[in-house]
Amino acid sequence: MSEDKIKQPTSIIIFGATGDLAKRKLFPAFYNLFIDDRLPEQFNIIALGRAENTDENFRNHIKENLENFSRKKVTSKEWEDFQKHITYFQHQLDEENSYINLNQKLESYDQDYGTRGNRLFYLSIAPDFVSVISGHIKKTSIASDPATDRIIIEKPFGHDKKSAIELNDLLSQTFEEEQIYRIDHYLGKETVQNILAFRFGNSIFEPLWNHRHIESVQITVAEEVGVESRASFYEQTGALRDMIQNHLLQILCMVAMEAPESLESGEIRDRKVDVLKSIRRISSDKVDHYAVRGQYGESKIDGVESKGYRQEEGIAKDSNTETFAAIKFYLDNERWQDVPFYVRTGKKMKEKHSYITIQFRPLPHSTFSDGPSQLSANRLIINIQPSMDIRLQFMSKKPGLSLDLQPVEMVFNDFACQENSPEAYETLLLEALSGDLTLFMRSDQVEEAWDVVKTIQETWESTKDPSFPNYEAGSWGPKDSNALVERQGHKWV
Ligand code: BG6
Repeated sequence: MSEDKIKQPTSIIIFGATGDLAKRKLFPAFYNLFIDDRLPEQFNIIALGRAENTDENFRNHIKENLENFSRKKVTSKEWEDFQKHITYFQHQLDEENSYINLNQKLESYDQDYGTRGNRLFYLSIAPDFVSVISGHIKKTSIASDPATDRIIIEKPFGHDKKSAIELNDLLSQTFEEEQIYRIDHYLGKETVQNILAFRFGNSIFEPLWNHRHIESVQITVAEEVGVESRASFYEQTGALRDMIQNHLLQILCMVAMEAPESLESGEIRDRKVDVLKSIRRISSDKVDHYAVRGQYGESKIDGVESKGYRQEEGIAKDSNTETFAAIKFYLDNERWQDVPFYVRTGKKMKEKHSYITIQFRPLPHSTFSDGPSQLSANRLIINIQPSMDIRLQFMSKKPGLSLDLQPVEMVFNDFACQENSPEAYETLLLEALSGDLTLFMRSDQVEEAWDVVKTIQETWESTKDPSFPNYEAGSWGPKDSNALVERQGHKWV
């Protein structure tokens, strides 16, 4: 990422600016970038919304939310300077006139800038609207300059492989691939980006990073929250589409990829696509063997009643949507042959915790009388959130007169000490503003990731799971997910 301030005047157009993402993530991210002096000297944020509203009202609404969601404290001086850059613009997604008016607005900014400014379109809207928006953008030529105009699209990108291909085709009629920034916010997290630094910035780990030394890899993204207020979205989505197809597979790519020749975005994205292609596809008749789904039921968490998924507002009483998924993947390539990659994610789990565990193979022979089985496995644990650290677990001598061993940990926790670590959205927005595609998904990455989960998705959609709900809110998921790893003598760490 460039340390230089972006020079090019820029207009940022947010579709869905009155929505949840805008208030919780986008405006706080822009505000923090602004106070860190990372935004261009000349920039405007045009907030699009359907209803009539005034700039003043809208700015007040943003300010109230900044108090809750901004990483840095909101001070009156900085807010006064920032708010001048925000304009509310009434806009109907499906009316051509709205786009013609928007274009006039953008041209008036260009006049103020004294040049044609960059244009960054942020689509923070339901996927169904992407088609109509990109059609109007094309027709009214608002984003006609591939060198300066960019579009950011939120996940989910399509709902299966077919729809993702259709969406890619559709976008390609209006935009060049280099203009399209498909967001997966996990790629903006400090600890996820650090995997690249950790693996390829050191000489000591890479020689061990293969099937000869690594026995298994686990990736867990556990959430404490339930479906919250997103029932209609989540009922159609479920854990496989919401988390595994994107966030978990992207983490897996970072762990498993070959060393890129350089940090050039095409190079890094090529290496990730190689990983996705190498993941062994699970045939429909083997889905139950490799994948486990779950749905949380009601329970008491710390003595307080917690609703089951089917009791949440807006959820069908007989819903078949999975709120938990665990899968065992294999990668058919030289580096990872026969190493299981276990991934799991779930809502209403015991605690919020995302982490990667690299488990090394046991010693072939132990010098110590207890034998290798008495030695705890060497593990490298990369904590993504909320703790942000890297832990190396190994055996050491217990202090004392005899030669007894004990497991110990070496911890690197610099991130945890960094109160000022940027939020994922700050990093990603800055990258998009500076035109760096590395942390965004390319069309083939998204399609390949859908292909990886295709048979599981089809099987789960077409068969009801009679065991639902099959895990208690506040637990670590269904028992079958333990069986998935125990079959091979492993355990979730
Ligand atoms: C989103 C999912 O992409 O990621 C949500 O749609 C999930 O369901 C969220 O809660 C998790 O993100 P984070 O950054 O809180 O781990």
